[in-house]
Amino acid sequence: MGRVQDKVVFITGAARGQGRAHALRLAQEGADIIGVDLCADIPTNDYALATPEDLAETVRLVEKLGRRMVGLRADVRDPGALRDAVAQGVAELGRLDAVVAQAGICPLGTQDPQAFLDAVAVDFNGVFHAVQAALPHLPDGASIVATGSVAGLLPGGTDNPAMGFGGLGYSWAKRAVASFVHDLALTLAPRGIRANAVHPTNTNTAMLNSDVMYRQFRPDLAHPTRDDALLAFPAMNAMPVGFVEPEDIAAAVLFLVSDESRFVTGLQMRVDAGSYVKNRPQQPVF
Ligand SMILES: NC(=O)c1ccc[n+]([C@@H]2O[C@H](COP(=O)([O-])OP(=O)(O)OC[C@H]3O[C@@H](n4cnc5c(N)ncnc54)[C@H](O)[C@@H]3O)[C@@H](O)[C@H]2O)c1
Repeated sequence: MGRVQDKVVFITGAARGQGRAHALRLAQEGADIIGVDLCADIPTNDYALATPEDLAETVRLVEKLGRRMVGLRADVRDPGALRDAVAQGVAELGRLDAVVAQAGICPLGTQDPQAFLDAVAVDFNGVFHAVQAALPHLPDGASIVATGSVAGLLPGGTDNPAMGFGGLGYSWAKRAVASFVHDLALTLAPRGIRANAVHPTNTNTAMLNSDVMYRQFRPDLAHPTRDDALLAFPAMNAMPVGFVEPEDIAAAVLFLVSDESRFVTGLQMRVDAGSYVKNRPQQPVF
């Protein structure tokens, strides 16, 4: 028996990065997956997003583990598209037990006001829409996990004016995700449905490994490379690492989806190599 044996989990942003890592880790432990991804770029976001081939590869890897995956192209900004995707997935896989709402963009470094709106639309509205689409199918005792960001929670992180309006939108959206999860947990507790957030530090995915991100970490250089950024990444964390792996986030997600965490709700779970305790603006009261 796996730790999430025969559960069906809906994952947004499943084509690559953390979303793929979650799909594979959950499948290893016995879950079937409904996974959506935009598989297209967003103009204000200055690095490429996933492709249809990436999504097909996640499906292939899940199936290689002996589990089923319904992989569909859908935009988390579109509530109707998510509703249809979840309905199709549930029709094929028979049920829905958990949601991992984690599709995201990080449009740093542009002064285009549209970047603010796009970050909010994907990084907050996308989480809301995923929950909205899933809720009618979720049984009592289900689990909802949303991905925030420790950088988004630290004042002066991505909302630093040097990060541009996209960074401000990213921070706004991630704070809103944290707040939403808090009150969602309260709202759904009578049904035993849990809602938790995970907040990663720098994570080794395409979002971090992008020229956009290199420029934010090395503003002293005109054209920083990954090697230049690698020297700066560790400043984010208390532990002596520049980033964590998507599998480190997947371990937390697996726990939160599984019944091992059946009484864990409203948690803001940082997987951040000590980033928050290093950079927090003041002593926490707890
Ligand atoms: N990588 C990091 O350093 C880091 C740090 C903290 C938080 N996060 C958060 O982790 C989550 C996952 O990001 P990642 O690191 O795997 O990056 P990633 O860019 O590899 O993956 C994000 C995925 O979301 C998809 N996506 C983007 N917009 C979408 C939309 N409108 N509809 C559907 N899918 C869409 C992309 O195509 C991509 O597959 C995001 O919410 C991100 O903000 C990442």
